[in-house]
Amino acid sequence: MARLSPQFLDTLRSRITLSSQVSQHVKLARAGREYRACCPFHAEKTPSFYVNDEKGFYHCFGCGAHGDVIGFLMQMTGQDFMTVVTDLATIAGLELPKTSPAEGTYRHGDLHTLLDAAAGFFQDCLGQDQGRQARTMIRERGIDDQTAKTFRLGYAPADDSLITFLCSKGFDENRQVSAGIAKPSTRRAGHYSFFRNRLIFPICDQRGRVVGFGGRSLDGQEPKYINSPETPIFAKGQQLFGLNLMDRSVRRPIMIVEGYMDVIASVKHGFSRVLAPLGTAVTPQHLTMLWRYGHADEQELNAPVACFDGDAAGQRAARRLASTALAQLEPGRSVRFAFLPKGEDPDSLLSQAGGRETLHAIIDQAIDLVDFVWLDAVRNGIPRTPETRAKLRVNLASQADLIPDRTIKELYSATLMRQFFQACRPSGERPSSIASPQSRERKPTPWPQKRYVVLLSMLLNAPELWRSFADNLEVIDWHDAYCRSIFHLAAQMIDQVADEETTITAQELHDKITTLDPSLVRALARLREVFVKHSGPQERLGQTFKEGLKQTQQERLRNDYRDTLLRLEQEDSEHDRKRISFLMAEIEKILNEQNYMVTDYTRKFVESPDWLEPTQTSRANVTPLHPQDQPESTAGIVRS
Ligand code: UTP
Ligand code: MN
Repeated sequence: MARLSPQFLDTLRSRITLSSQVSQHVKLARAGREYRACCPFHAEKTPSFYVNDEKGFYHCFGCGAHGDVIGFLMQMTGQDFMTVVTDLATIAGLELPKTSPAEGTYRHGDLHTLLDAAAGFFQDCLGQDQGRQARTMIRERGIDDQTAKTFRLGYAPADDSLITFLCSKGFDENRQVSAGIAKPSTRRAGHYSFFRNRLIFPICDQRGRVVGFGGRSLDGQEPKYINSPETPIFAKGQQLFGLNLMDRSVRRPIMIVEGYMDVIASVKHGFSRVLAPLGTAVTPQHLTMLWRYGHADEQELNAPVACFDGDAAGQRAARRLASTALAQLEPGRSVRFAFLPKGEDPDSLLSQAGGRETLHAIIDQAIDLVDFVWLDAVRNGIPRTPETRAKLRVNLASQADLIPDRTIKELYSATLMRQFFQACRPSGERPSSIASPQSRERKPTPWPQKRYVVLLSMLLNAPELWRSFADNLEVIDWHDAYCRSIFHLAAQMIDQVADEETTITAQELHDKITTLDPSLVRALARLREVFVKHSGPQERLGQTFKEGLKQTQQERLRNDYRDTLLRLEQEDSEHDRKRISFLMAEIEKILNEQNYMVTDYTRKFVESPDWLEPTQTSRANVTPLHPQDQPESTAGIVRS
């Protein structure tokens, strides 16, 4: 039997959360600080098997079974001590001490050195003549030399020179087969190289040791990517590409992307915590790793953000991740979902102008798992008949049922059912007379945004704006009597000037208005102050005005949307349903212009009341126009 130091075993135990291993074999429910389950080692109906993560021990009060993570796995899987320890060490990212006489240790160490030599060989080949096509691909994909070096990109030649090379370094062909880079030939004696004429992506474990490769074809040959076969040190379901380069110190959520290229492009653009599974869905083991490497955010949630293509395949992939995650949720741990525009992956998005900002915005808008479950369940619309509603309700309940943790399960059920009843309120039924906090918040505020004051001040003090925006001014609501009269008087002047084909200065405009209505003189003076303080840089005036108009328009749509939604909640009507779709499309149009990508899910997500709350910008104050108002001013309304 191998001798491993007690210190090493302690480190190993401390790096592995016992419940994460036990839960792969036994359905655990949280019980205070421990987990409880029916004992897997004897037959019982009421749970008496306890798992304590702090102490790292499990104990069964029924049969007395007791032990640590190593003992549990040995007993559960029937594997020997060394196999279990070796596997756990891989999961924990620990290297077994070299002095260990265990055969497996030598084998693993050996494979690591062999693969490292292979990676070096591929890297060398990339720089040679034969690597030209691969170099072209790298360049065309916008990968600079430094990034290529960081990822140790390489080129696998079309011949078997790798095998000869490795033999010359003392790794015989059988070892190469074990490492997954050589295959016995069926047509002749000897072996052939597994990766041929491909761009090579070394796959590293957390400590930077090469454990396998991905290879992309250069000439359109299918399959586009091949990966190393499973070896003693390479299990696809437990490996994540980018792990070795991930910044462990930054407390930002981990981004999960689909492909090698996505990781590389994201890292190159400064996203420092990006990982990709290797052409498979995110596995339960992946999720455990992601939580281990993740940090809790301000809301105490440790949740990686998974990026999906906004197309149907992306939605399917997202659904799959949702099921995996639900089956494994723990307090404080979850996943979030970000949807890219249809047909895009992070790599393609980042290659476009402004792609980085867009990707950031998309990640920031990621939706929570519970919202995803709901939105996915109603992706084809809210059902209208009792039968289809029943189906939705059963579906929601079955999603919540996937959750092993009882507390989370209860909270999911409650949240999903609330959504259900809110959406499926039978027509004609009134909501309860006590408004929910949500709907109270949604009532229009008595003194709405004062962006219009700034806009008016700009029109008065930069009359050239009338020319460019004359047709768009009707979106502005003049909530204030002074503003309304000033606007109408000014509009008359401007019309007159336009008829005469002359121009008018700000001063002339002021003078004419004061002549017509001397009571407006103070209001005009205040508008002048507002202009000076809040109109932003002179050279961007047109741009600032345009943004202000857009925000105003967007706000009107949102208010309209909110009112329609409130009406719909009280009474279902075909007309309001149509109006909702129309408003949604309009809002989306504006958001798109602002360079936000609104995917199907995020669009549905606009139904969420949070989204409808006034933005930071619109909540800001502006110098009140009324002389009797407090002249306290804070931030500018129209942001430049
Ligand atoms: P994609 O087909 O989306 O490719 O596969 P990609 O990453 O965007 O690559 P480019 O941009 O075309 O070069 C995503 C991931 O799925 C795995 C790979 O890990 C790939 O990065 N995959 C894909 C395979 O394993 N085999 C395949 O044949 C295709
Ligand atoms: Mn791609």
